[in-house]
Order: sequence, then C-alpha cells, then structure tokens
Amino acid sequence: MNILLGSSEIQPFSKTGGLADMVAALGKYLGEAGVHVGMVTPLYRGLLEQYEGIQRTERTIDVSLGARIERARIYEFQPSENFTIYFVEHVHFFQRSGIYGEHSHDYADNAERFLFLTRVLLKLTFELSWKPDLVHIHDWPVAMFPAMLRQALAEGTVTEPPKTLCTIHNLAYQGLFPASQVSLANLDASYFTPAGMEFYEKMNFLKAGIVYADYVSTVSPAYAAEILTPEFGCGLEGVLAERKDELSGILNGVDYAEWNTTKNKFLNFSYNIDRIAGKAKEKKQLQKDLGLPVEPKVPLFGMISRLVEQKGVSLLIEALQQSLNHSMQFVLLGSGDPELEGMMQDLQERFPDRVKVKIGYDVGLSHRIEAACDFYMMPSRFEPCGLNQLYSLRYGTIPIVHAAGGLRDSVIDEAESTEKATGVKFHDFTSAAVLEGIYRGMAIYKKPASLRSYRRRAMEADFSWERTAQAYIELYRKILSE
Ligand code: ADP
Ligand code: GLC
Repeated sequence: MNILLGSSEIQPFSKTGGLADMVAALGKYLGEAGVHVGMVTPLYRGLLEQYEGIQRTERTIDVSLGARIERARIYEFQPSENFTIYFVEHVHFFQRSGIYGEHSHDYADNAERFLFLTRVLLKLTFELSWKPDLVHIHDWPVAMFPAMLRQALAEGTVTEPPKTLCTIHNLAYQGLFPASQVSLANLDASYFTPAGMEFYEKMNFLKAGIVYADYVSTVSPAYAAEILTPEFGCGLEGVLAERKDELSGILNGVDYAEWNTTKNKFLNFSYNIDRIAGKAKEKKQLQKDLGLPVEPKVPLFGMISRLVEQKGVSLLIEALQQSLNHSMQFVLLGSGDPELEGMMQDLQERFPDRVKVKIGYDVGLSHRIEAACDFYMMPSRFEPCGLNQLYSLRYGTIPIVHAAGGLRDSVIDEAESTEKATGVKFHDFTSAAVLEGIYRGMAIYKKPASLRSYRRRAMEADFSWERTAQAYIELYRKILSE
C-alpha cells in the first residue's frame, strides 16, 4: 500500500501543537507496518542548517497561483525505511520565523502560502517514482487538495487518481479567507458555492476538504460524534452531517520511543512503575530549578499548553485562585494569547511560593514537567484528541480533565470503573467543576495506597502507535475498496 501524507507541520522539524507529533508518528509507524509512505511539508527556516540529512534534489515543480507561476524545489529526507519526507522549498513563502504567523498575528498571505503547498502536493502525487494509492491530508492548510484533484481530473490533466482522506485535527481552525483571494486557488467558479468551499461568502479550506474528500476522519471517536452538534461543529455541523456515513474517529497514539521515563535525554532520573523513586527526584529537581519550595509532600499540578480559549485556561485560573489557598503547587509552561499569559503571570505574583509560570516553548522542560508533577490539568472546552493526557498517563501523572473529545475517550474516571480508574474527569465546563476536579486530585494524593494504584493503572495504560497505525491501515483499505 502506498500512502502520501500532506501536513504543514511535522515534529521535530516544525511544530506548533499535537498535529506535528501525530503526523510524524503516523509516518513512522505506517512505515514500520510495511506501508510505503511519503510526506509533503514545507522547508521552514533553519531546517537545512539543523538537519544534515535533508538533501537537495534536482526536482523543481512549477505551479500556478492565480495568474502567477511559482517554483518549488524539493528536498528529501528519509527518517526511516519506507518513510520519505519531501520538503518543499520556497524562500519567500516558507523561510520565515513562524509557521502560520508571528507575534500572535497570522501572515497576510497564508492562503497563497498553503495553496502553493497543496498544488505542489498535487503535482508530486503524479510525478513521484512511486504511485500513491491514497493521499491523506491533515487540517486546513492542505485541505484544498481534493478539490484541486477533482478539477484536474475534469480537465483531463491527470488520470487514475488516488483516493483522498481528510483528517480534521481541530475544527476551530478552518482556513477562512476573503472571497477576493479565491482566484489564487485556480478552481472553476462552481467550487465557490455554498455546496462547495464557500462559507458565508468566504473561502473555507477545511470545508472544501470535508465536501470533496472521499472520506473524513478526526482524531478521536468522541470528537467525531461531537462535531455533528452545533456546540462543537464550529458552523460546519451541517456539512459534516451530510458526510456522516464517511466520517469516523481514530484516537491518536503515543510514540513511546520519545515519550517515556526510562530512556529520555530530557530527564535527570529514570523511573518506571516498579522503580518509582525517580519520579520523586524529578519533582524535587524541578521545584529546585524553578525556585519553588522543595516540598516532596505537597501535590504538584502541571500544565503544558498553547494558551488559547480552547484549553479552558480562564476557568483553570478561577479554580486555582480558590484551590491555591490549600497546600499545593502549580507549574505552567505555555504561550499564546497575551491576555491569558498575563493572567497566568498575575496568578504567579499572587501566589509566588505556589505557582511558577514559564511563558515560552520548551520541549525539554515539557518532559520534565510531565515527569515531576503528580497531576496534569487539561480542562479543555473541546479537545479533538489531546496528547498531554496520554503522555501524563505514561509518566504516572494523573490527568484531571474535562470529559470532552479525546479526553473522554482516553481517561477513565472512578465513576466509570473503580478498578480501572486512571484519572479524574469532570463533566461541566465551569470553574466550579475544575475546582472539584482539583479537590478530587488532592483527596487521591492524601491516600498513598490510592495514589499508588492510580499511578500504576495510568502507567500501564497502552496507547501505542502500533495500534493506531493499524486502525489507519484498515481505514485506508476500506476507502480503497470503495
Ligand atoms: P494541541 O495540538 O491542541 O496544542 P495536543 O495536546 O494535541 O494539543 O498537543 C500539544 C503538543 O504541544 C504536546 O506535545 C505538548 O507537549 C506540546 N506543547 C504545547 N505547548 C508547549 C510548550 N509551551 N512547550 C513545549 N511543548 C508544548
Ligand atoms: C489538534 C488538537 C489536539 C490533537 C492534535 C493532534 O491540534 O487540538 O486535540 O491532539 O491536533 O491530532
């Protein structure tokens, strides 16, 4: 089976969130399962300097962007057998310091940048030395692919098309652009209608993906159901409902080769379920390094996140203002909305001995926080899958989550099964419910036997990518057989 993936991010080369982790692992584990995999992604600034393995090729690709022709050069990198990454170089579009924007502002030419990427993906589909059976696109940046493919077929410029799968990682980001930019897509006027990619007079990339792909998927079964409702559908629930027979969810996995507590270059100590002492040492070291009082017996809560409305940050701050009057510590690593960053910093000023806020992006520190904490907070309003709760489980850090999307699918609460509980789930999206979740965490912490059994079950939970990759292979087979 030959699969070509398209994504604007891939870890470790480029990352703003879980999308990057997911597609990197998907490529790797499909390859390990014997699938021939390619991935098309931009060559962002600094990659050539950082990764010697990325090789320049003689392949250039010219594509139309409105009335202009723009040229890409292809670079290649082979992270593992069966898996090749095709990096798309375009100095003006991709040699920038951000992926989608800088200083909380999107680049003004994002429609052009990602239409260009998608056109290159289309050309490569038909020009590679191997023939993709299916092109699997991820999120809005490449979601115009099925529409472009369809038009190319109608024009007769290509034959024997691959099937297409459009995976939605987050419906809140749709790639919405003014109608004045429609001509950049070089699509027939018939695509820009309410039945196609038009969304209230704007051009909507993700909607085009949903309408024109052979199949649509999301990153958890619960989110696949939620997005059919007005509460979570972000205005596209009607369009999705029309595709509900070709819509399903597959829960992401964890790449345990990267996210583990025994062979991890970012951690100072190694630990596992049977040798848990290293976890307490990580806690002590983190408290020391961050300047928190070194208190082995005070429960440490943590969070690593993009600071955006989706993640429930304001509710968490409200809840913490109450709970921090009790004995606990909280550490946050994140960046995003300047207002939420400021609110977090205010909390730190108010509780200097109990709260540490690190604004920024730091992969090493994210592993250390996962390892050091006793509890991990994830009060997301919605969460298509969420990766940090899965990482937390493996690190023996009990997740406290809002029961939404992938959080609902991956954490087991005591109310569901006392013998299987791995974390704390709350159902209302209110600060009172978050507070209640924190208090339930504190109660677990007070009973060492209970804490030990939660940790054991959490660390034993298995979300390995082998299984997720198999689920995708089955889905590809199903799509290919139709
Ligand atoms: P989303 O993709 O919506 O941001 P996920 O839970 O799927 O949420 O994935 C987030 C990923 O980004 C995780 O790997 C997390 O560790 C990482 N991450 C988020 N913020 C930071 C940060 N400030 N520093 C390091 N890693 C971060
Ligand atoms: C998105 C979602 C997140 C998911 C990730 C990877 O960024 O917000 O929930 O885990 O994609 O699929």
